Amino acid sequence: MKKIKSSEITSYSDYLSRRDFLKTMGIMTAGAALLAACGTPQDEASTVVNPSAEDSSGISPSASANTDELGKPLNSYEDITNYNNYYEFTTDKERVAVLAEGYPTSPWEVKVGGLVNNPKTYSLDDFRKFEIEERIYRLRCVEAWSMVIPWMGFPLSKLLAEVEPKAEAKYVRFETIYDPEGMPGFKKNPFYQWPYVEGLRVDEAMNDLAILATGLYGKDLLPQNGAPIRMVIPWKYGFKSIKSIVKIDLVDEMPRSLWMAAAPNEYGFNANVNPNVNHPRWSQASERRIGEFGRTETIMFNGYEEEVAHLYAGMDLAINF
Ligand code: MTE
Repeated sequence: MKKIKSSEITSYSDYLSRRDFLKTMGIMTAGAALLAACGTPQDEASTVVNPSAEDSSGISPSASANTDELGKPLNSYEDITNYNNYYEFTTDKERVAVLAEGYPTSPWEVKVGGLVNNPKTYSLDDFRKFEIEERIYRLRCVEAWSMVIPWMGFPLSKLLAEVEPKAEAKYVRFETIYDPEGMPGFKKNPFYQWPYVEGLRVDEAMNDLAILATGLYGKDLLPQNGAPIRMVIPWKYGFKSIKSIVKIDLVDEMPRSLWMAAAPNEYGFNANVNPNVNHPRWSQASERRIGEFGRTETIMFNGYEEEVAHLYAGMDLAINF
C-alpha cells in the first residue's frame, strides 16, 4: 500500500504534463496499445476497444506514483471513471458515467451518529479539514475484475475518533443517498432493498487501510465513483466500498447490507478477498485487471494480508465469507 501525504501528491495537471512528457520521450510502452475487456464473468468473451487505451498503464515504472507497491501499473483515469458499478444509476458498467454526469453532489451532508458521544453532521467543508493523503490501492470486484486506483482521502478512524464511539458500539453502518427521482436505477431495479447499505466491524473500521475517499488522481471524485465521499476498503470485495455516503451510524448489531439481503448465500458480511473461496457461480482464484490481457492470480486479502489477517485470526473464512 502506498501512503503519501497531501504535500507530496502530484496534482492532476502536473500528473498529466508528466504523462505528456513521458509520451514525448517515447517512454510509454507497447502496453499502451491495449484492448480493455469489460464485463462480468458471464460476458468474459466480449471485448471492446478502449478508446482511451493510450492512457492505460504504460508509464515508466520509475515514478513510484505510477504503480502500486507490488509494481502493478495504475489504471488510467479514463478506465476508472468509465467502468463502474453503481446500481442506483444502472447495472451497465459502461453507462454509469453517462447517466451520472452532472449529478449534484454539493452541497452534501453526512450524518454521523448512533452509539457515539459526539454525533455530528459533516458538510463538505468539514471533510476538507481532514488531512488528505493519496492511497494507491487495488480494487478487486467480487465479479472478478480489478483496477489499481490512486485514491485521495483520509482514514475512517480519524472521523470515528471525532465522534467517539461508545463501548457498546460493535459495528459501523453506512448508507448511500436514496434518490429515486435523480437516479434511474432505483425504478429499473425495484427488487433490491434500497438504500444501499454496508457495514464493518468497529475494529475493521479502525484499521488504517480503511479510508473515506474524496478524490482520485488528485481530482475530486466524479459522481460515478461515489462523489462526494465514499468508503474504500481494499482488502474486501469492491461492493463493501460504499459510494455517496449520507449516513454513518455506530450500532451494536451486524448491519444487513443490500447484498446480504439480495443473496445471502453469495455475498456475506465479511467479503474478504479470498482466492480459495469461490463465488457459487464463478471462481475467485483469478481476476481480469481492466486494461490488461489475460488474467492475474487473486491474492489473499487482495495483497493486504500483513495489515489485516490478524482481524480474522481463528475465523473459518470459508464459512464466514
Ligand atoms: N455503492 C453504491 N452505493 N452502489 C453500488 O452499486 N457498487 C459497489 C461499490 N460501491 C456500488 C457501491 C461495487 S460492486 C464495486 S466493485 C465498487 O463500488 C466499484 O467502484 P468504482 O465504480 O468506483 O470502481
